[in-house]
Amino acid sequence: MFDEIEFDKIKRLPKYVFAAVGELKMQQRHAGADVIDLSMGNPDGPTPPHIIEKLIESARKPKVYGYSVSRGIFKLRLAAADWYQRKYGVYLDPETEVVASMGSKEGYAHLVQAITNLGDTAIVPDPCYPIHSQAFILAGGNVVKFPIKFGSDFALDEDTFVEDVKKCLRENSPRPKYLIVNFPNNPTTTTVTPEFYKRIVALAKEERFYILSDIAYAELSFDGYKTPSIMSVEGAKDVAIESYTLSKSYNMAGWRVGFIVGNQKLVGALAKIKSWLDYGMFTPIQVAATVALNGDQKCVEEIRQNYERRRDVLIKAFANAGWQIDSPKATMFVWARIPEQFRHLGSLEFAKQLLINAQVAVSPGVGFGPAGDEWVRIAMIENENRIRQAAKNIKKYFREKGIAVSADEMK
Ligand SMILES: Cc1ncc(COP(=O)(O)O)c(C=O)c1O
Repeated sequence: MFDEIEFDKIKRLPKYVFAAVGELKMQQRHAGADVIDLSMGNPDGPTPPHIIEKLIESARKPKVYGYSVSRGIFKLRLAAADWYQRKYGVYLDPETEVVASMGSKEGYAHLVQAITNLGDTAIVPDPCYPIHSQAFILAGGNVVKFPIKFGSDFALDEDTFVEDVKKCLRENSPRPKYLIVNFPNNPTTTTVTPEFYKRIVALAKEERFYILSDIAYAELSFDGYKTPSIMSVEGAKDVAIESYTLSKSYNMAGWRVGFIVGNQKLVGALAKIKSWLDYGMFTPIQVAATVALNGDQKCVEEIRQNYERRRDVLIKAFANAGWQIDSPKATMFVWARIPEQFRHLGSLEFAKQLLINAQVAVSPGVGFGPAGDEWVRIAMIENENRIRQAAKNIKKYFREKGIAVSADEMK
Protein backbone atom coordinates (compact mmCIF):
# COMPACT_ATOMS: atom_id res chain seq x y z
CA MET A 1 0.00 0.00 0.00
CA PHE A 2 1.08 3.59 -0.64
CA ASP A 3 4.02 2.53 -2.82
CA GLU A 4 4.59 6.16 -3.74
CA ILE A 5 5.44 6.99 -0.12
CA GLU A 6 9.10 6.08 0.29
CA PHE A 7 11.21 6.24 3.43
CA ASP A 8 14.41 7.47 1.82
CA LYS A 9 16.21 8.11 5.07
CA ILE A 10 15.87 4.62 6.46
CA LYS A 11 16.84 3.21 3.07
CA ARG A 12 20.24 4.86 3.46
CA LEU A 13 20.94 2.54 6.38
CA PRO A 14 22.51 -0.74 5.23
CA LYS A 15 21.17 -4.10 6.41
CA TYR A 16 22.61 -4.99 9.78
CA VAL A 17 25.40 -7.50 8.97
CA PHE A 18 25.32 -8.94 12.48
CA ALA A 19 21.68 -9.97 12.01
CA ALA A 20 22.84 -12.82 9.73
CA VAL A 21 25.04 -14.28 12.47
CA GLY A 22 22.33 -13.63 15.08
CA GLU A 23 19.74 -15.57 13.08
CA LEU A 24 22.10 -18.47 12.51
CA LYS A 25 22.93 -18.48 16.22
CA MET A 26 19.25 -18.82 17.10
CA GLN A 27 18.77 -21.60 14.53
CA GLN A 28 21.70 -23.51 16.02
CA ARG A 29 20.35 -23.08 19.53
CA HIS A 30 16.88 -24.21 18.54
CA ALA A 31 18.49 -27.29 17.02
CA GLY A 32 20.00 -28.01 20.44
CA ALA A 33 23.58 -26.77 19.89
CA ASP A 34 25.44 -25.31 22.88
CA VAL A 35 26.55 -22.11 21.17
CA ILE A 36 29.33 -20.19 22.91
CA ASP A 37 28.36 -16.63 22.21
CA LEU A 38 31.32 -14.29 21.84
CA SER A 39 29.61 -11.98 19.37
CA MET A 40 28.09 -8.95 21.08
CA GLY A 41 29.77 -6.33 23.29
CA ASN A 42 27.20 -6.97 25.99
CA PRO A 43 28.83 -7.37 29.44
CA ASP A 44 27.78 -10.61 31.15
CA GLY A 45 28.57 -9.57 34.74
CA PRO A 46 26.14 -8.07 37.28
CA THR A 47 26.11 -4.40 38.24
CA PRO A 48 27.97 -3.93 41.57
CA PRO A 49 25.53 -4.35 44.52
CA HIS A 50 25.96 -0.87 46.04
CA ILE A 51 24.70 0.68 42.79
CA ILE A 52 21.66 -1.60 42.69
CA GLU A 53 20.94 -0.81 46.37
CA LYS A 54 20.96 2.90 45.59
CA LEU A 55 18.54 2.38 42.71
CA ILE A 56 16.15 0.53 45.03
CA GLU A 57 16.47 3.11 47.81
CA SER A 58 15.85 5.95 45.39
CA ALA A 59 12.93 4.19 43.68
CA ARG A 60 11.16 3.98 47.08
CA LYS A 61 11.08 7.77 47.43
CA PRO A 62 7.73 9.30 46.51
CA LYS A 63 9.07 12.25 44.54
CA VAL A 64 11.03 10.39 41.86
CA TYR A 65 8.29 9.21 39.54
CA GLY A 66 7.72 12.32 37.48
CA TYR A 67 9.57 13.51 34.42
CA SER A 68 13.23 14.04 35.10
CA VAL A 69 15.69 16.51 33.55
CA SER A 70 16.54 15.82 29.90
CA ARG A 71 20.18 16.94 30.17
CA GLY A 72 20.61 14.95 33.40
CA ILE A 73 20.14 15.90 37.07
CA PHE A 74 22.77 18.34 38.34
CA LYS A 75 24.37 15.79 40.71
CA LEU A 76 24.99 13.36 37.86
CA ARG A 77 26.52 16.07 35.66
CA LEU A 78 28.67 17.13 38.62
CA ALA A 79 29.74 13.50 39.18
CA ALA A 80 30.75 13.31 35.51
CA ALA A 81 32.78 16.52 35.85
CA ASP A 82 34.40 15.16 39.03
CA TRP A 83 35.24 11.89 37.23
CA TYR A 84 37.18 13.89 34.64
CA GLN A 85 38.86 15.93 37.37
CA ARG A 86 39.98 12.82 39.24
CA LYS A 87 40.98 10.72 36.27
CA TYR A 88 42.39 13.34 33.92
CA GLY A 89 42.85 16.52 35.98
CA VAL A 90 40.42 18.31 33.66
CA TYR A 91 37.94 20.95 34.85
CA LEU A 92 34.47 20.83 33.26
CA ASP A 93 31.56 23.12 34.05
CA PRO A 94 28.64 20.81 34.88
CA GLU A 95 26.17 23.46 33.68
CA THR A 96 27.55 24.13 30.23
CA GLU A 97 30.06 21.42 29.43
CA VAL A 98 28.32 18.19 30.49
CA VAL A 99 25.15 16.45 29.32
CA ALA A 100 24.03 13.08 30.67
CA SER A 101 22.68 10.72 28.03
CA MET A 102 20.81 7.43 27.78
CA GLY A 103 24.00 5.53 27.17
CA SER A 104 26.64 7.15 25.03
CA LYS A 105 25.08 5.80 21.83
CA GLU A 106 21.93 7.88 22.27
CA GLY A 107 23.94 10.97 23.17
CA TYR A 108 26.23 10.57 20.17
CA ALA A 109 23.42 9.87 17.69
CA HIS A 110 21.40 12.87 18.88
CA LEU A 111 24.42 15.13 18.92
CA VAL A 112 25.12 14.20 15.30
CA GLN A 113 21.44 14.77 14.49
CA ALA A 114 21.67 18.22 16.05
CA ILE A 115 24.87 19.39 14.36
CA THR A 116 24.70 17.88 10.88
CA ASN A 117 23.51 20.07 8.01
CA LEU A 118 22.31 18.27 4.89
CA GLY A 119 25.37 17.08 2.96
CA ASP A 120 27.88 17.69 5.77
CA THR A 121 30.82 15.32 5.74
CA ALA A 122 32.46 13.50 8.65
CA ILE A 123 35.71 11.54 8.66
CA VAL A 124 35.13 8.17 10.30
CA PRO A 125 38.14 5.82 10.37
CA ASP A 126 37.38 2.30 9.14
CA PRO A 127 36.42 -0.09 10.71
CA CYS A 128 34.24 1.60 13.31
CA TYR A 129 31.52 1.10 15.90
CA PRO A 130 28.62 1.18 13.40
CA ILE A 131 26.67 4.15 14.82
CA HIS A 132 29.77 6.34 14.46
CA SER A 133 29.21 6.42 10.73
CA GLN A 134 25.50 5.63 10.46
CA ALA A 135 24.50 8.54 12.70
CA PHE A 136 25.76 10.90 10.00
CA ILE A 137 23.97 8.95 7.26
CA LEU A 138 20.71 9.08 9.24
CA ALA A 139 21.16 12.81 9.79
CA GLY A 140 21.48 13.43 6.04
CA GLY A 141 25.25 13.78 6.03
CA ASN A 142 28.04 11.80 4.39
CA VAL A 143 31.01 9.86 5.65
CA VAL A 144 34.54 9.52 4.28
CA LYS A 145 36.69 6.68 5.52
CA PHE A 146 40.26 5.50 5.60
CA PRO A 147 41.60 2.23 7.04
CA ILE A 148 43.02 2.45 10.58
CA LYS A 149 46.67 1.30 10.61
CA PHE A 150 48.11 -0.30 13.73
CA GLY A 151 50.98 -2.54 14.77
CA SER A 152 50.96 -6.05 16.20
CA ASP A 153 50.66 -4.46 19.67
CA PHE A 154 47.53 -2.64 18.43
CA ALA A 155 49.18 0.75 18.91
CA LEU A 156 47.83 3.21 16.35
CA ASP A 157 50.20 4.27 13.59
CA GLU A 158 49.69 7.89 14.61
CA ASP A 159 51.78 9.50 11.86
CA THR A 160 49.81 7.71 9.15
CA PHE A 161 46.51 8.53 10.87
CA VAL A 162 47.28 12.25 10.89
CA GLU A 163 48.37 12.12 7.24
CA ASP A 164 45.20 10.25 6.31
CA VAL A 165 43.06 12.88 8.02
CA LYS A 166 44.91 15.62 6.14
CA LYS A 167 44.35 13.77 2.88
CA CYS A 168 40.61 13.47 3.60
CA LEU A 169 40.45 17.20 4.29
CA ARG A 170 42.31 18.01 1.07
CA GLU A 171 40.46 15.67 -1.21
CA ASN A 172 36.83 16.01 -0.19
CA SER A 173 34.30 18.60 -1.15
CA PRO A 174 32.46 19.76 0.82
CA ARG A 175 35.33 19.81 3.23
CA PRO A 176 34.78 17.50 6.24
CA LYS A 177 33.57 19.30 9.35
CA TYR A 178 33.94 16.44 11.82
CA LEU A 179 36.48 13.78 12.75
CA ILE A 180 35.44 10.78 14.85
CA VAL A 181 38.04 9.16 17.09
CA ASN A 182 37.42 6.14 19.31
CA PHE A 183 40.43 4.83 21.24
CA PRO A 184 40.65 2.23 22.68
CA ASN A 185 38.84 1.32 19.49
CA ASN A 186 35.86 -0.88 18.92
CA PRO A 187 36.37 -3.20 17.06
CA THR A 188 40.15 -3.12 16.51
CA THR A 189 41.15 -2.44 20.18
CA THR A 190 43.70 0.08 18.87
CA THR A 191 45.17 2.42 21.49
CA VAL A 192 46.81 5.85 21.27
CA THR A 193 49.28 8.00 23.21
CA PRO A 194 48.42 11.37 24.80
CA GLU A 195 50.66 12.95 22.12
CA PHE A 196 48.20 11.79 19.45
CA TYR A 197 45.46 13.99 20.90
CA LYS A 198 47.78 17.00 20.99
CA ARG A 199 48.43 16.52 17.29
CA ILE A 200 44.82 16.17 16.21
CA VAL A 201 43.63 19.05 18.40
CA ALA A 202 46.30 21.28 16.81
CA LEU A 203 45.26 20.05 13.37
CA ALA A 204 41.57 20.68 14.10
CA LYS A 205 42.33 24.26 15.12
CA GLU A 206 44.43 24.84 12.05
CA GLU A 207 42.07 23.19 9.59
CA ARG A 208 38.83 24.15 11.33
CA PHE A 209 36.96 20.96 12.10
CA TYR A 210 35.42 19.45 15.23
CA ILE A 211 36.52 16.22 16.88
CA LEU A 212 34.05 13.78 18.45
CA SER A 213 35.93 11.37 20.73
CA ASP A 214 34.46 8.21 22.28
CA ILE A 215 36.28 6.58 25.22
CA ALA A 216 33.70 3.91 26.11
CA TYR A 217 36.54 1.51 27.04
CA ALA A 218 38.65 4.00 29.02
CA GLU A 219 38.78 1.81 32.13
CA LEU A 220 39.20 -1.54 30.41
CA SER A 221 42.93 -1.41 29.71
CA PHE A 222 45.63 -3.99 30.37
CA ASP A 223 49.35 -4.45 30.99
CA GLY A 224 49.59 -1.04 32.65
CA TYR A 225 48.27 0.88 29.63
CA LYS A 226 46.35 4.00 30.71
CA THR A 227 43.73 5.40 28.35
CA PRO A 228 44.34 9.07 27.59
CA SER A 229 41.54 11.60 27.06
CA ILE A 230 41.43 14.28 24.40
CA MET A 231 40.10 16.59 27.13
CA SER A 232 43.55 16.62 28.76
CA VAL A 233 44.93 18.64 25.86
CA GLU A 234 45.00 22.33 26.58
CA GLY A 235 42.37 24.09 24.50
CA ALA A 236 40.67 20.80 23.51
CA LYS A 237 37.34 22.24 24.54
CA ASP A 238 37.59 24.70 21.65
CA VAL A 239 37.27 21.91 19.13
CA ALA A 240 36.27 18.66 20.80
CA ILE A 241 33.69 16.72 22.76
CA GLU A 242 34.12 13.31 24.34
CA SER A 243 31.63 10.62 25.32
CA TYR A 244 31.88 8.11 28.12
CA THR A 245 29.53 5.43 29.40
CA LEU A 246 28.81 3.45 32.54
CA SER A 247 27.83 0.45 30.39
CA LYS A 248 31.22 -1.23 30.35
CA SER A 249 33.12 -0.04 33.43
CA TYR A 250 30.24 -0.75 35.83
CA ASN A 251 28.40 -3.56 33.96
CA MET A 252 25.47 -1.20 33.44
CA ALA A 253 24.77 -1.64 29.72
CA GLY A 254 21.05 -2.18 30.22
CA TRP A 255 20.68 0.86 32.46
CA ARG A 256 21.47 3.22 29.58
CA VAL A 257 23.62 5.87 31.25
CA GLY A 258 26.49 7.84 29.81
CA PHE A 259 27.60 11.42 29.30
CA ILE A 260 29.07 13.78 26.76
CA VAL A 261 31.43 16.57 27.74
CA GLY A 262 33.53 19.34 26.30
CA ASN A 263 32.90 22.06 23.72
CA GLN A 264 30.03 24.28 24.88
CA LYS A 265 28.59 24.84 21.44
CA LEU A 266 28.31 21.11 20.74
CA VAL A 267 27.22 20.19 24.27
CA GLY A 268 24.66 23.01 24.07
CA ALA A 269 23.35 21.64 20.76
CA LEU A 270 22.91 18.21 22.35
CA ALA A 271 21.18 19.68 25.42
CA LYS A 272 18.82 21.59 23.14
CA ILE A 273 17.84 18.67 20.92
CA LYS A 274 17.37 16.47 24.00
CA SER A 275 15.08 19.08 25.55
CA TRP A 276 12.80 18.54 22.54
CA LEU A 277 13.11 14.79 22.35
CA ASP A 278 13.10 13.39 25.87
CA TYR A 279 12.43 14.08 29.55
CA GLY A 280 15.56 12.43 30.85
CA MET A 281 16.36 9.08 32.36
CA PHE A 282 14.24 7.79 35.25
CA THR A 283 15.59 9.73 38.26
CA PRO A 284 16.56 6.68 40.39
CA ILE A 285 18.77 5.50 37.52
CA GLN A 286 20.49 8.87 37.51
CA VAL A 287 20.89 8.80 41.29
CA ALA A 288 22.39 5.31 41.19
CA ALA A 289 24.70 6.33 38.32
CA THR A 290 25.89 9.26 40.44
CA VAL A 291 26.76 6.82 43.21
CA ALA A 292 28.59 4.59 40.71
CA LEU A 293 30.80 7.46 39.60
CA ASN A 294 31.37 8.97 43.06
CA GLY A 295 31.70 5.74 45.05
CA ASP A 296 34.48 3.26 45.63
CA GLN A 297 36.07 2.35 42.29
CA LYS A 298 37.23 -1.08 43.45
CA CYS A 299 34.40 -2.62 41.43
CA VAL A 300 35.78 -1.07 38.24
CA GLU A 301 39.18 -2.57 38.92
CA GLU A 302 37.58 -5.99 39.47
CA ILE A 303 35.71 -5.77 36.18
CA ARG A 304 38.91 -4.69 34.42
CA GLN A 305 40.89 -7.58 35.91
CA ASN A 306 38.21 -10.03 34.87
CA TYR A 307 38.59 -9.02 31.21
CA GLU A 308 42.37 -9.12 31.50
CA ARG A 309 42.22 -12.70 32.82
CA ARG A 310 39.81 -13.73 30.07
CA ARG A 311 42.07 -12.14 27.48
CA ASP A 312 45.07 -14.13 28.71
CA VAL A 313 43.10 -17.38 28.68
CA LEU A 314 41.69 -16.67 25.24
CA ILE A 315 44.98 -15.78 23.55
CA LYS A 316 46.69 -18.86 24.98
CA ALA A 317 43.85 -21.31 24.33
CA PHE A 318 43.25 -20.08 20.78
CA ALA A 319 46.98 -20.25 20.00
CA ASN A 320 46.87 -23.83 21.23
CA ALA A 321 44.03 -24.43 18.78
CA GLY A 322 46.19 -23.17 15.92
CA TRP A 323 44.90 -19.59 15.82
CA GLN A 324 47.65 -17.10 16.64
CA ILE A 325 46.05 -13.84 17.75
CA ASP A 326 47.80 -10.67 18.89
CA SER A 327 46.99 -9.67 22.45
CA PRO A 328 44.91 -6.47 22.88
CA LYS A 329 45.91 -3.74 25.32
CA ALA A 330 42.35 -2.65 26.01
CA THR A 331 38.58 -3.11 25.54
CA MET A 332 36.47 -6.22 26.10
CA PHE A 333 37.30 -7.56 22.63
CA VAL A 334 39.93 -9.47 20.78
CA TRP A 335 40.40 -8.41 17.15
CA ALA A 336 41.51 -11.57 15.44
CA ARG A 337 42.88 -11.89 11.89
CA ILE A 338 41.17 -14.81 10.19
CA PRO A 339 43.62 -17.75 9.80
CA GLU A 340 45.16 -17.67 6.34
CA GLN A 341 43.48 -20.86 5.18
CA PHE A 342 40.04 -19.31 5.72
CA ARG A 343 40.75 -15.71 4.76
CA HIS A 344 39.44 -16.07 1.21
CA LEU A 345 35.97 -16.75 2.64
CA GLY A 346 35.60 -13.22 3.95
CA SER A 347 34.58 -12.48 7.52
CA LEU A 348 30.84 -13.10 7.22
CA GLU A 349 31.22 -16.57 5.73
CA PHE A 350 34.03 -17.43 8.14
CA ALA A 351 31.87 -16.38 11.11
CA LYS A 352 29.04 -18.57 9.79
CA GLN A 353 31.37 -21.54 9.33
CA LEU A 354 32.73 -21.11 12.85
CA LEU A 355 29.20 -21.07 14.21
CA ILE A 356 28.05 -24.13 12.27
CA ASN A 357 31.20 -26.21 12.75
CA ALA A 358 32.53 -25.11 16.15
CA GLN A 359 29.39 -23.64 17.79
CA VAL A 360 31.26 -20.41 18.48
CA ALA A 361 29.62 -17.09 17.60
CA VAL A 362 31.86 -14.12 16.74
CA SER A 363 31.18 -10.85 14.91
CA PRO A 364 32.31 -10.63 11.28
CA GLY A 365 34.75 -7.75 10.84
CA VAL A 366 33.01 -6.52 7.70
CA GLY A 367 30.05 -5.50 9.87
CA PHE A 368 32.26 -2.68 11.17
CA GLY A 369 33.37 -1.58 7.71
CA PRO A 370 35.18 -2.85 4.61
CA ALA A 371 38.62 -2.66 6.25
CA GLY A 372 37.46 -5.31 8.74
CA ASP A 373 36.82 -8.09 6.26
CA GLU A 374 39.94 -10.15 7.06
CA TRP A 375 39.10 -10.07 10.76
CA VAL A 376 36.52 -11.13 13.32
CA ARG A 377 35.76 -9.53 16.67
CA ILE A 378 35.63 -11.86 19.65
CA ALA A 379 33.86 -10.42 22.70
CA MET A 380 35.07 -11.70 26.06
CA ILE A 381 31.58 -12.06 27.45
CA GLU A 382 31.68 -15.68 28.55
CA ASN A 383 33.70 -17.02 31.47
CA GLU A 384 37.15 -18.61 31.27
CA ASN A 385 35.84 -22.19 31.11
CA ARG A 386 33.55 -21.33 28.24
CA ILE A 387 36.39 -19.54 26.45
CA ARG A 388 38.53 -22.68 26.86
CA GLN A 389 35.63 -24.77 25.53
CA ALA A 390 35.33 -22.42 22.53
CA ALA A 391 39.05 -22.97 21.82
CA LYS A 392 38.58 -26.75 22.05
CA ASN A 393 35.68 -26.67 19.59
CA ILE A 394 37.72 -24.51 17.20
CA LYS A 395 40.73 -26.79 17.52
CA LYS A 396 38.60 -29.78 16.53
CA TYR A 397 37.16 -27.91 13.56
CA PHE A 398 40.58 -26.67 12.43
CA ARG A 399 41.98 -30.19 12.68
CA GLU A 400 39.19 -31.51 10.49
CA LYS A 401 40.20 -28.87 7.99
CA GLY A 402 43.81 -29.98 8.24
CA ILE A 403 45.11 -26.91 10.03
CA ALA A 404 48.26 -27.46 12.05
CA VAL A 405 47.97 -26.77 15.76
CA SER A 406 50.75 -25.55 18.01
CA ALA A 407 53.50 -27.72 19.52
CA ASP A 408 51.86 -27.83 22.93
CA GLU A 409 48.58 -29.03 21.43
CA MET A 410 48.23 -31.91 23.84
CA LYS A 411 47.88 -29.60 26.83
C1 LIG B 1 32.90 2.43 21.08
C2 LIG B 1 31.56 2.37 21.71
N1 LIG B 1 30.94 3.49 22.01
C3 LIG B 1 29.73 3.48 22.59
C4 LIG B 1 29.09 2.31 22.86
C5 LIG B 1 27.70 2.36 23.39
O1 LIG B 1 27.65 2.35 24.70
P1 LIG B 1 26.36 2.78 25.50
O2 LIG B 1 25.87 1.56 26.15
O3 LIG B 1 26.85 3.80 26.43
O4 LIG B 1 25.36 3.35 24.54
C6 LIG B 1 29.69 1.10 22.57
C7 LIG B 1 28.99 -0.16 22.86
O5 LIG B 1 29.35 -1.23 22.49
C8 LIG B 1 30.96 1.13 21.97
O6 LIG B 1 31.59 0.01 21.63
